[in-house]
Amino acid sequence: MPCHGRRNESVCALLGKLPLLQLRVQRLAHIHANKLRFFYAFILRSTGKAPNTMAKKSPASAAGNADAPTKHEIRPGQSIELLKELHILTRDGKMNQDSRRKLKQVYHLFHFIEPLLADVHAREGSVSLADHGAGKSYLGFILYDLFFKTLRDRSHIYGIEFREELVTKSKELATRLGFDGMSFLNLSVAESITSDQLPDSIDIVTALHACNTATDDAIQFALHKKAKYIVVVPCCQAEVASVLRKNKGHSLSKNVLTEMWRHPLHTREFGSQITNVLRCLQLESHGYQVSVTELVGWEHSMKNELIIAQFKDLPRGKPAERLSDVLETLGLDELRERFFTH
Ligand SMILES: C[S@@+](CC[C@H](N)C(=O)[O-])C[C@H]1O[C@@H](n2cnc3c(N)ncnc32)[C@H](O)[C@@H]1O
Repeated sequence: MPCHGRRNESVCALLGKLPLLQLRVQRLAHIHANKLRFFYAFILRSTGKAPNTMAKKSPASAAGNADAPTKHEIRPGQSIELLKELHILTRDGKMNQDSRRKLKQVYHLFHFIEPLLADVHAREGSVSLADHGAGKSYLGFILYDLFFKTLRDRSHIYGIEFREELVTKSKELATRLGFDGMSFLNLSVAESITSDQLPDSIDIVTALHACNTATDDAIQFALHKKAKYIVVVPCCQAEVASVLRKNKGHSLSKNVLTEMWRHPLHTREFGSQITNVLRCLQLESHGYQVSVTELVGWEHSMKNELIIAQFKDLPRGKPAERLSDVLETLGLDELRERFFTH
């Protein structure tokens, strides 16, 4: 890219160094993560708190039966029928490499959500959760099986999905399993915001790969229901990229950074990146504390950004101001309604 003028030159120089810098940071992070993992495993082994998985084989593989789930993989009380329905276990109760990976991913996500459920439950005596774009509701079912099933209170999971056949199937499965603290609503995420089939407040809102703007609607739902926690793993969102695309000709003459989304592929990728930035600022502008992390081990999807927000009633002015500035700078003014602030 040719550089014109000193200011542009320094921007170009900085942009040129970014990939190298990113690579170095990634390498460093990788080395440190490996060192930490090794150190942690070593401490646990030396204090006798964990089996030496490096030296010993699991009982199943030691016995030459690598298909049988080990006791670490299936937790006490966990529904075998559910795991079969979710194709994590085969019909004869076996596991393969694929289903092992799937189960690992499910536990990984559970590991993020369980402390939030426990926190709300300890404070309120019950916990409600709405899962948007639920699909086959495997997240809801796993959360119910591992956390809600043994509670004897008003705790409840609502699965929201606009494909009727998936809702019907989930209802049938919940009835079969006796999971009576689960409801499945055949609604769009937008409709669910005002639907009288849901209570006025919901403690935790999740949306896992809810398509396009369904994640934004889920955020709006969460704000409307005064959710204490919001957990989203966004899918591709086309709306922001389409506005960037529409306005980039005009923007190019005003703002050199339009180069970041001038090429069509970059428009899509930058659009996706900036959408999540806007979502985070929007949540902060409503008093939430936000953390963004990677859903590692989520190999089957390119979309693995995990956004977790906790309502802390934080000051709203600054993030609202910054959100407004970002929208203006990027020529996204027409999306102010989507990314509404307090
Ligand atoms: C990629 S799937 C993810 C399903 C599930 N959350 C998971 O991670 O396995 C997205 C689901 O969201 C549903 N969906 C997309 N947009 C929606 C909307 N606006 N309202 C309700 N459901 C929606 C789709 O029908 C689909 O089942």
